[in-house]
This record gives sequence, C-alpha cells and structure tokens, in this order.
Amino acid sequence: MKKNVIAGNWKMHKTNREALRLVTRLMKLMEKHPPRKTEVVVCPPFTALAPVAELLKGSAIRLGAQNIFWEEEGAFTGEVAARMVRGAGARYVIIGHSERRRYFKEDESVINKKIQLALKNKLQVIHCVGETLEERRHNLTQDIIINQLEWGLKGLTGDDFKKVVIAYEPVWAIGTGKTATPEQAQEVHAFIREILNTLYGNQVGSRITIVYGGSVKPENAAGLLSQPDVNRALVGGACLDARSFFKIIQASETT
Ligand code: PGA
Repeated sequence: MKKNVIAGNWKMHKTNREALRLVTRLMKLMEKHPPRKTEVVVCPPFTALAPVAELLKGSAIRLGAQNIFWEEEGAFTGEVAARMVRGAGARYVIIGHSERRRYFKEDESVINKKIQLALKNKLQVIHCVGETLEERRHNLTQDIIINQLEWGLKGLTGDDFKKVVIAYEPVWAIGTGKTATPEQAQEVHAFIREILNTLYGNQVGSRITIVYGGSVKPENAAGLLSQPDVNRALVGGACLDARSFFKIIQASETT
C-alpha cells in the first residue's frame, strides 16, 4: 500500500563510529518531533548494518542495505547475500541504483534477479529507475522507464508489489545539485503509475509508493514532496547530516 517514505542512501560514507553518531543525532531530533505519516529508512554501508540495527532497536526508524548479490550464497568473494543483510537487521534494500548500473554494469536482468531474491528473503525493495541526461535530451525518458519497469520487475505478483517502492532518480540529478523541477518529477511519477497499471494490472501502479531521488535538500524538499504522486524521497548527500535529513523528514510531514 502507498505510504510516505524518506530513505537515506549513505553510499560509501561513514565508519561504524561515525554511523552511530549520525543515527544517535537523528534519533534525538526525531524523539522531539516523531513523524506521524512518514516511514524513515537509513541505508548505511554493509559494515555498519549490525551496529546501527542494535542502536535502532525499539525505534521507528527502519534499516536498509544498499545492495545485495544475485545468488543465495556460495563462492562469490567480496559479495553480500540477501539473508546476511536481513540477518544483520535490514528490512529494506536499494536495488538498481544508477551508480550500480554505471560502475558495476548492472542491467535489468541482474536487477530482476536481485529483486526476486530480496523479496524471497523478506526484504522490501527500493527499485531505482531513471534516465540519463542524454536520454532525456533525446526524448527517451519514457522508453527507458518502461524498459526498466518491464524487465526489472518481471515475474512479480500482486503481493510482491506490496513490498516494492519505486525510486525515480533521474541520473542527471544525482549528486549534481541539479534537481528535477516538481513538475518534471510529478510528470514521470504519474507516468510510472500508468505503466505499472498497464504492465501488471490490478491497480499496481495506483497503489505503489514512488519516491523521488536526485539532489533532494532541505531547501527544495517542500516543492518536490508536495506533488501528488511523489510519495517522498530517496536522499543521498543531504542524509549524511542528521539535521538536514531531519529537515527533509519534516518537509514530508508538513506537505
Ligand atoms: P543525491 O543522491 O541526493 O546525493 O543526489 C541521491 C541518490 O543517489 O539516491
């Protein structure tokens, strides 16, 4: 079911000590103003999952991983399995982030395997989609999104979709300081709903949570988050500071 989600993607930042400090600050801020209509998720690096999970015990903040491998287990040196992140306390996992697509050549078939495995291991999926600047310039945004939704989510059933959040992250807006305008974000979010309804039926698109990602900051959050089809945000840079992440959570509460 549709819910408001603010998730923080820490990327490759923070030692365990720094991670605990950041989450402690965030918990203090949230204690004074507990969000009523926003699910807050933090996605630290793998190394910090278990200690952060321990700190979050009894808190409403959810824990997410940034990636998993596409096989259950085995001889895959350096990789981390879905059941390991679940065992460490994660309840969410980000899959198909554009940085994984770009630097690790993840394509829709890899992404699809990971999504299936995450769901099997009772992890909620934050599935990232979005076009590059060049694709937007060539008017290919819709084609790219259709392709990503069709192949990335292939084989999912109605029940599976209850555990999936879509993150629309235009690649040109990630870490660049350029954001989509609220209207651009709204337009693509509405399109994603329409395509999911067409591809998967049963009002999958109307019911799914779709968050926006790409240079969301306290200064631009209210405009983006007040769009009707923007069920809040996946935040990178601005989530590394407890206060600015908290301000985005507050924007979610008040829009
Ligand atoms: P950004 O990252 O907020 O730093 O642009 C967003 C993301 O990559 O999820």
